[in-house]
Amino acid sequence: MKVYAINGSPRKNKNTATLLQKALDGVKESAKDKEIETEIINLYDLNYTGCISCFACKRLGGKSYGKCTVKDDIKEVLEKLSEADGIIFGSPIYLGNITGQLQSFLERLIFQYLVYDKNHSSIAPKKMSTAFIYTMNVPEEIMNEVGYLKTFNHIGAYIEQIFTKPLVMYSNNTYQFDDYSKYKMEIFSEEEKAAHRKAQFPIDCQKAFGLGVNLIK
Ligand SMILES: Cc1cc2nc3c(=O)[nH]c(=O)nc-3n(C[C@H](O)[C@H](O)[C@H](O)COP(=O)(O)O)c2cc1C
Repeated sequence: MKVYAINGSPRKNKNTATLLQKALDGVKESAKDKEIETEIINLYDLNYTGCISCFACKRLGGKSYGKCTVKDDIKEVLEKLSEADGIIFGSPIYLGNITGQLQSFLERLIFQYLVYDKNHSSIAPKKMSTAFIYTMNVPEEIMNEVGYLKTFNHIGAYIEQIFTKPLVMYSNNTYQFDDYSKYKMEIFSEEEKAAHRKAQFPIDCQKAFGLGVNLIK
């Protein structure tokens, strides 16, 4: 079995990547006697574009039907994911949404399997388990007010349509730098951020671990 984490953050050892790794640790823990491999794919290491609207994946009778044919670094990732037993997506929130890199990646992953029929059916070769980890500055209490929950539900609905309903977790009010005094950031209090980080991030890591434990049923 193979479970992948897709890191949509440019940073490889900060909030999103840390939680993704915890989730993969949880996957390993749940595997017990099953053979299970895990891998993090860092999208910012790869050169690629979003969907280029060539429609090769929708062309009837061709061998590209249901497959993205764009030849860039994502090609190999899509091949790997077509045989995955689980995918855990992770993204920081940038300007109220997932990062551009992850959005471009999802266009490539999802559109190839989305059929333009009445039910928008899916021709994904496998209905693997999925999960999504979001990290952001915004505190949990105002995620709804600022419209983020609507955005997350929208993304989740696409993933469910094509694969399965994702397990979802959020990490809020994240710590962005090691030293807030070096940056112009007057809307944040370093003291409050550091206290939140100390109290809450270990809990978020536990949540991510639990999400991984529950990923593969
Ligand atoms: C370009 C940019 C835009 C951001 N926009 C938002 C935002 O709209 N809402 C929010 O809550 N946090 C925003 N943030 C904060 C990040 O989402 C947050 O710090 C996140 O946990 C960073 O993840 P990382 O540590 O994995 O890189 C933004 C950060 C950057 C760099």
